[in-house]
Amino acid sequence: MTLIIFLMVFLLVLPLLKHLFFGVSQYDHQLPPGPYLWQILRNISLFINSPHIAFNKLDKIYGPLISFRIGGQLVVVASSQNTSKEILKNRAFSGRYLPSAYYHIPGSSHLSVVSAKECNDTWKSLRGIGQACIFSSKAIESNTQIRKMKVTQMMDYLKTKQGQIVNIENVIFATVSNIVANVLTSRDLFGIDLEGIADRKLVAFMHQVTEKASSPGLSDLFPVLSKIDFWSKRSGMDMYRLIKYTWGDIIKERRASNRHDSESEQDFFNEFLIAGTDSTTITAVMLMVKLVRNQEILSRVREEIANQAIDGNAINESCLSKCQYFQACIKETLRLHTPGPFGIPHRAIETCTLNNYKIPKDTVVLVNFWAIHLDPDNWEDPESFKPDRFLGSKVDFMGAHFEFLPFSAGQRMCPGSNVAIKNVQLVVAYLVHYFNWNFSDGFNYDNLDKMDKSSTTFKKEIPLCLVPKIREQHMFEFNVCKLHIKNVIC
Ligand code: HEM
Ligand SMILES: *[C@@H]1O[C@H](CO)[C@@H](O)[C@H](O)[C@H]1NC(C)=O
Ligand SMILES: *[C@@H]1O[C@H](CO)[C@@H](O)[C@H](O)[C@H]1NC(C)=O
Ligand SMILES: *[C@@H]1O[C@H](CO)[C@@H](O)[C@H](O)[C@H]1NC(C)=O
Ligand SMILES: *[C@@H]1O[C@H](CO)[C@@H](O)[C@H](O)[C@H]1NC(C)=O
Ligand SMILES: *[C@@H]1O[C@H](CO)[C@@H](O)[C@H](O)[C@H]1NC(C)=O
Repeated sequence: MTLIIFLMVFLLVLPLLKHLFFGVSQYDHQLPPGPYLWQILRNISLFINSPHIAFNKLDKIYGPLISFRIGGQLVVVASSQNTSKEILKNRAFSGRYLPSAYYHIPGSSHLSVVSAKECNDTWKSLRGIGQACIFSSKAIESNTQIRKMKVTQMMDYLKTKQGQIVNIENVIFATVSNIVANVLTSRDLFGIDLEGIADRKLVAFMHQVTEKASSPGLSDLFPVLSKIDFWSKRSGMDMYRLIKYTWGDIIKERRASNRHDSESEQDFFNEFLIAGTDSTTITAVMLMVKLVRNQEILSRVREEIANQAIDGNAINESCLSKCQYFQACIKETLRLHTPGPFGIPHRAIETCTLNNYKIPKDTVVLVNFWAIHLDPDNWEDPESFKPDRFLGSKVDFMGAHFEFLPFSAGQRMCPGSNVAIKNVQLVVAYLVHYFNWNFSDGFNYDNLDKMDKSSTTFKKEIPLCLVPKIREQHMFEFNVCKLHIKNVIC
């Protein structure tokens, strides 16, 4: 036992000493420059809590491409438009790196788009299935009624909550999750307020999966130790059991109703839910924060929406897609509050050159989207929320403009961008068109924008709680729209 501990300490300390005294740049001239390990250790809490900010500081010292080692793992971080373009357009960097715990989930190698280690045929066919059933514009179109129904349920709930404090973050999360769940499995996942015991368990599970998937295990830091990394193995099995537990009932239900989707199909769907709901919710919540705090911008959005919904019609997706200013607000929210400040880590699938540096195979490659979105070289007055900057501008989020990459770009680009935008747009439009929103008394406004904490996605430190009040002049439209939905279903 002591021998093993000694061995582990030795292995931990050896690379540490090496880097403490030599740093990356001094002993390997072919790698991008970077900090000594002690520089990272000295500010370790900043690197853990706000890595995007910590790396931004390093960029100021070492330039837009830096490298460093954590244990035995080499990491490269890009933080400029040009370097991110070089990386995201290069097939050599299209591999995926996730903590090894994730790869210990049975089935993860042949069922997961997100964790696929390279863009091979398995990955291609999985992305193809997703394209056919949720991501394509045809699939999105065919799910219009599902979205409308779920948003209507949200409205019905909020009508009962007038004058009361509502955790709007939970309501949005439940609505967005139920939309995706209904598209995939024709079933709700949550009660609208997330208050049920089963709901809380499931939310805890989803957080656990994202948490585990973003915590490195021993073998991530020291690949040679993968054989004895029991923590990662156990972590992977824990996630597997939780997934089975969560989806067990749904699978049984569907078997009983003779719909013979395989279990593996459920695992696969499960992934889309986890990949998509958190970041969509954060975007919608941050947009609400911006609108409720900026009455001028809010009025402009409301006016635009009301003008499109002609003749007292209820608002619908086709009229919302014409609302240019509202779309610009969504883009500006994605710029300032990118849900994934580093995206999801990439991996070099082979040794290759990048800006005259030689990047070895299996290097972890990150792009600091957060820094790119706040780079004064790319944006005027980058810290301010100014939706107008997107009006009359060609810049969009489809991966062609490397100064704006909320969904990344290249082969691994998020396939769910259009789904996400549709959901954010619909949910927030309903919330602001039919309701007035006030902060509750004593709510601390100042912390609302504070988003220092980050893992794979930003989490607000305090949930957004608001008090709804119906805007009477529009409720009539809404009730007409509900009658219309009932007719469609019956
Ligand atoms: C505002 C909401 C969203 C944001 C900001 C976002 C952002 C991202 C980012 C940055 C990546 C990593 C891309 C890369 O590795 O270069 C990604 C991957 C992915 N996203 Fe999204 N996403 C969102 C919503 C969604 C939704 C709604 C879905 C599904 C319904 C989804 C499904 C996926 C999948 C499957 C991948 C993995 C792609 C691959 O590895 O090939 N995302 N997303
Ligand atoms: C680390 O912390 C020190 C002192 O707290 C500070 O001077 C330095 O700028 C920080 N470095 C980084 C990269 O954040
Ligand atoms: C980025 O690349 C473009 C052309 O590819 C070049 O004109 C520009 O100077 C580069 N910017 C920086 C900051 O290196
Ligand atoms: C693709 O890569 C995965 C590992 O990420 C592997 O399990 C799978 O068998 C590969 N598929 C093909 C067709 O090579
Ligand atoms: C959507 O709303 C617009 C404007 O109110 C209306 O002209 C259009 O017919 C509606 N479309 C659907 C599918 O309800
Ligand atoms: C909400 O705030 C507005 C002004 O911001 C105020 O006029 C109104 O009385 C408030 N409503 C409630 C129910 O507190």
